Amino acid sequence: MGLTIGFIGAGNMTKAIVSGLVSSKLFEPADILVSNPTQAKLEIFKTEYGVGTTTDNTALAMASDFIVLGVKPGVIPEVAHQLKDVPDLKSRVLITLAAGIPIAFYEEILGEDQPLVRTMPNTPAMVGEGMTAVWANSRVDEKNLQMVLRIFDALGKSLIIKESLFDAVTATSGSSPAMVYVFIEALADGAVLRGLPRETAYLLASQAVLGAAKMVRDSGLHPGVLKDSVTSPGGTTIEALKVLEDRGFRGSVMEAVNQCAEKSKQMALQFK
Ligand SMILES: NC(=O)c1ccc[n+]([C@@H]2O[C@H](COP(=O)([O-])OP(=O)(O)OC[C@H]3O[C@@H](n4cnc5c(N)ncnc54)[C@H](OP(=O)(O)O)[C@@H]3O)[C@@H](O)[C@H]2O)c1
Repeated sequence: MGLTIGFIGAGNMTKAIVSGLVSSKLFEPADILVSNPTQAKLEIFKTEYGVGTTTDNTALAMASDFIVLGVKPGVIPEVAHQLKDVPDLKSRVLITLAAGIPIAFYEEILGEDQPLVRTMPNTPAMVGEGMTAVWANSRVDEKNLQMVLRIFDALGKSLIIKESLFDAVTATSGSSPAMVYVFIEALADGAVLRGLPRETAYLLASQAVLGAAKMVRDSGLHPGVLKDSVTSPGGTTIEALKVLEDRGFRGSVMEAVNQCAEKSKQMALQFK
């Protein structure tokens, strides 16, 4: 393809994306670069994926058409200031993974004419089932925007979502895997209570959640219709559902999403 993609920060999200790009063959390993302050992490990328590595963020940026900022939000100001002096930066697309930092923050440092894409990925990208929200400023042309979507489609699914809705996205797909893990753990605890071995319980619970998620995503049916179809009159499933309703399951989940989005909004204020 002739394009190069560079990742600043050799952490968990970079690993998930590099792994997806290499296995989808969207980029050749020779066209992928990763930078990190510590050499040990870079060695892993070199050995596992055969990509190029460096400890020099500026050198990486100069060699990349797409520059992915894969550092924690607290490190973003330092890295953004470092990139400011990279020659010809405006011909490169900067893609940020950082939670809570608006595009306007980067524009303030790098100029409003810098092509910028803000994303909110999630960790299921590590198993090819990620969900990434994408929003670009007006400097990203259609060809580059389509390329960004292809990059994140290689890790699962991607969708353009207005930046003003990113707090809701953080709660709904960014942080929600943790809520689902708690649900799976609770399902398995119930199973263990009724005598199933622990490992069997986790397999049954996780496979049920995976299957149910695919039913919702792929059938196009409303979740309520799917629920009704497995709930026989006077049967076992309706007994379980009554307990969840009595104990406020739906309201708890809704409020968890609401509070998570609120926290995301509050955290973003420090970057205004
Ligand atoms: N993990 C998630 O679920 C998730 C979901 C959505 C978005 N995100 C976003 O993705 C970004 C990365 O998260 P992560 O979980 O992958 O973090 P992480 O595993 O902590 O990785 C961050 C990496 O950045 C490196 N680093 C620190 N300072 C650097 C610098 N000045 N230049 C280059 N590299 C530097 C760190 O190196 P050392 O460890 O060697 O210091 C580390 O390898 C964050 O902004 C986060 O908000 C994460």
